[in-house]
Amino acid sequence: MSTHAVCPGSFDPVTMGHVNIIERATQLFEQVTVLVTANPNKPSGLFSVEERKALIREALKDHENIRVEHWSGLLVEYTQNNGIDTIVKGLRSSLDYDYELPMAQMNRKLAGIDTVFLMTDPKYGYISSTLCKEVTKYGGDVSDMLPDAVNRAMQEKLR
Ligand code: PNS
Repeated sequence: MSTHAVCPGSFDPVTMGHVNIIERATQLFEQVTVLVTANPNKPSGLFSVEERKALIREALKDHENIRVEHWSGLLVEYTQNNGIDTIVKGLRSSLDYDYELPMAQMNRKLAGIDTVFLMTDPKYGYISSTLCKEVTKYGGDVSDMLPDAVNRAMQEKLR
């Protein structure tokens, strides 16, 4: 039985879509680690690692079984070092599936770890950190797509 799962991602910044997936993971696993992880395809972000972690902690502060950490190496190295046996990711669409499938298969090949995909709640299906940043930059309102503290922090950075 799996008791400890990891939700890895760039989280630049965390959105309501991420929060929903992480909260659902806490119903399925005894312990959930939210891992701010290096993505070599997204080298420079808007928020620093420390800012991302603080915003995730604030958004999920009511959950006792969530830990928020950072890792700059291979994801499977972190899972092996920390007794984590499941990776949890959200899937919004077939585009996400095409992006996630090779990573899930690679992680399974490297370390025998399974990835569990939770289907994104339809009300969050169009939300991405990237689009929220773009819309905020040009003056649009994304306040119901982001935790309050994230929305405030993003406005301070981008406007
Ligand atoms: O939110 P993202 O950017 O789509 O998340 C991708 C992420 C960070 C989970 C992925 O890039 C990752 O696992 N990075 C850690 C390095 C690693 O293990 N790479 C091999 C993946 S098969």
